[in-house]
Amino acid sequence: MNIKPITDPSRPKVYIETYGCQMNMNDSEVILSILQDAGYALTEDIGQADVILANTCSIRDNAEQRIWGRIDQFRLQKRRRDGVIIGIVGCMAERLKEKLLDGHTVDLVAGPDAYRSLPDLIREISPDKPQINVLLSHEETYADISPVRMDRNGVSAYISIMRGCNNVCSYCVVPYTRGAERSRAPKSIVREAVELFENGYKEVCLLGQNVDSYLWKHPDSADKNVNFAQLLEMVAKVSPDLRVRFSTSYPKDISDEVIYTMAMYENICRHIHLPVQSGSNTMLEKMRRKYNREWYLEKVGKIRSVMPDCGISTDVIAGFCGETEQDHKDTVSLMEAVGFDSAFMFQYSERPGTLAARKYPDDVPPEVKTARLNEIIALQNRLSLESNTKEVGKRHKVLIEGTSKRNEEEFTGRTSNNKVCVFAAPGHKPGDYVEVEVLSCTSATLIAKLI
Ligand code: SAH
Ligand code: SF4
Ligand code: F3S
Repeated sequence: MNIKPITDPSRPKVYIETYGCQMNMNDSEVILSILQDAGYALTEDIGQADVILANTCSIRDNAEQRIWGRIDQFRLQKRRRDGVIIGIVGCMAERLKEKLLDGHTVDLVAGPDAYRSLPDLIREISPDKPQINVLLSHEETYADISPVRMDRNGVSAYISIMRGCNNVCSYCVVPYTRGAERSRAPKSIVREAVELFENGYKEVCLLGQNVDSYLWKHPDSADKNVNFAQLLEMVAKVSPDLRVRFSTSYPKDISDEVIYTMAMYENICRHIHLPVQSGSNTMLEKMRRKYNREWYLEKVGKIRSVMPDCGISTDVIAGFCGETEQDHKDTVSLMEAVGFDSAFMFQYSERPGTLAARKYPDDVPPEVKTARLNEIIALQNRLSLESNTKEVGKRHKVLIEGTSKRNEEEFTGRTSNNKVCVFAAPGHKPGDYVEVEVLSCTSATLIAKLI
């Protein structure tokens, strides 16, 4: 299995830009694998590319606006060189379909379940014959494809364990762009983890929109079905030197079995990304999140009672439809009560076709959304600093991922509970595990020394 990019200059060249979430990053690696098998080589120079692909995201309007800007730039490439093919793939391709073809720049539109057809689609393209495949599938998991790793650090890799999403959070476009949820065969997941470990990787991150609903149904016997906790254990057993992370956990679905499995294996990292979205029960109900504030706080309590050192991060949406000052205060107080280690925070962005777009007016004024977002960002900066300050004086096992951007003499890596650490470690290299002691911190980083 070739999991490294081929750079043979005699092959036609493909250039790939990736936007959006980790699942999209991993999908780009699947795309490259499919195109390499069809004779292409990767180029990092857009000016050399025969095929330019953008793997796109639709989650918020600004994500799509960015892509429209890129399409304008791609048009220039096309003017400069005859025969360059421009392809838009991924979530925005799925959402907008032939609307992407209107401007006569785009030659190819392919949705997240159509990547196997890319070589054929590209072959069929001619100047007046753009190609499109946006069929969604109930089965496609790309299980047999070994993604070609584009990460470059050679230490940490993503493994998609499922695709699609069966939740219908009212604000979210993902069920429309990625289709129904399906789980990938556990054997193929473990095989991929083994293959990565044999190629020097030391960490895998298992990916799904809702990993806790992973369920692989055995064809013969329900007793042999595999749930997420069991899958986690199978991957953890690949080697004690292979760290396992996962994302994303859905608060309603994360089970005690998962929490106990994490606690049993030192190489399953002590970190859970548990998006709360809002601290207000009124908002959570309108968002169709299927849990409430009290349920969420109880889950956090459970996680911490089993693993007191477990990092917990979250996602928050500010200014969802009808959000009052009191709803916003409930989010602030929930963030305080949990004391998140980190968070991704966004202003609500209405997505056409979603339940919220059809049912609820997007009525929080933009300046109020911005003010609320700024307030929670400032709060999270304080909470992150408090959380990091608690680490000062403690020792951690860190996996070196690369050299620090600020100082080439220093390495960067993460602790098990997902905190970024910088430290000097002469004689070591990326992929090594080292013991460090935390000396000081900022809200984003632990500054440590080797012990
Ligand atoms: N499957 C994950 C989330 C995937 S999308 C989960 O359920 O937790 C990542 C994050 O984007 C979400 O958690 C949410 O906070 C944010 N998001 C999704 N749709 C959004 C929208 N319409 N406007 C603003 N933020 C949104
Ligand atoms: Fe979107 Fe909800 Fe599915 Fe997450 S769980 S991808 S927020 S619909
Ligand atoms: Fe974006 Fe699609 Fe991921 S909409 S966040 S790239 S699943």
